[in-house]
Amino acid sequence: MLNDPLPDLSVSAQLRAQLLPHCRLQRGEVWTDPVVGHRIGCLDCTDSAEVSTLMGAEKGVLAVQDPPYNLVMFERRTIEEYIEWCRKWIVNTEQSLTDDCALYIWLGADQKAGFQPLPDFILLMRETPFRSRSLITMRNQRGYGTQKNWMAVRQELLYYTKGSPHFDVQAEYTDIPKILRGYYKTVNGVRTDNLERGKSPNIRAGNVWVDIQQVFYRMEENVPGCYAQKPLSAISRIIRASSRVGDTVVDFFAHAGTTLIAAEQAGRRCFTMDIDPIFAELTIRRLEHYRETRKTGWQKSNPFPVTESTLTTANEQVVYD
Ligand SMILES: C[S@@+](CC[C@H](N)C(=O)[O-])C[C@H]1O[C@@H](n2cnc3c(N)ncnc32)[C@H](O)[C@@H]1O
Repeated sequence: MLNDPLPDLSVSAQLRAQLLPHCRLQRGEVWTDPVVGHRIGCLDCTDSAEVSTLMGAEKGVLAVQDPPYNLVMFERRTIEEYIEWCRKWIVNTEQSLTDDCALYIWLGADQKAGFQPLPDFILLMRETPFRSRSLITMRNQRGYGTQKNWMAVRQELLYYTKGSPHFDVQAEYTDIPKILRGYYKTVNGVRTDNLERGKSPNIRAGNVWVDIQQVFYRMEENVPGCYAQKPLSAISRIIRASSRVGDTVVDFFAHAGTTLIAAEQAGRRCFTMDIDPIFAELTIRRLEHYRETRKTGWQKSNPFPVTESTLTTANEQVVYD
């Protein structure tokens, strides 16, 4: 069972039913990490009382939010319903953050449906105290599309701030060396190229991130069972840019617990939640697994190493891609 990957949890109701008894948190409960005080809740982020259960009197300086994008058919709402749903967790996000804070939101744009919900969400954000700062695009390696359209390889990341939060530009530098000279400019009478003027031998990520590997099953950080896991390096970049060591980072949509692991590695505290007890449990287990093994995920093995007889039936019934 340890080497038997957990199937996508969104496709097997029976497997979900079998995993639930192995989950520590029930709806409304919060687990507090005894080591550095991270908090993980099984909570609904649209409910302000449940968000207060997670936050108590504390506030974060940064929120990294990755909501469901309204693209998945089985949970699809009308765009109006979706935006009203977003309004609730945005209000709760603002209440969970300090006056000087940063907010990042991953969001999709359905090219078959007027690119919703991205433009509608951007309009919603204009009604809030947050100020738009950057629209970042991250390039996926795998795309989808037909021979009659451009291959879709982008993921959008909105960056907003309130007040004047910290921003560490050093976090923006990639591992990609600068190789092109040019952009000549005369400084103090001397003609210099951009390599000589630059603060780093590497290039800045800017707002188009092409250097981040999308998570797939052969990577150590892969969390089997998760269908929407973000790359750890993307969240680490955000955390290093928009918070300091010791700060609290908030994530209302934990799923595979990526923000938590990035915060743990960077010496920040993370307060996170998921409405689904299985993803809340996976998030706790990922932290424990990281501390025991220094591994950031399970690659192809199983985060629920229970006896084979318990889960085999469910595994046999799902379709692997
Ligand atoms: C796109 S995934 C987040 C992926 C995450 N950033 C990662 O890297 O693993 C969205 C998650 O939000 C959770 N979710 C959906 N509605 C929620 C709600 N109202 N409150 C809290 N979590 C919710 C889902 O169960 C799902 O796990």
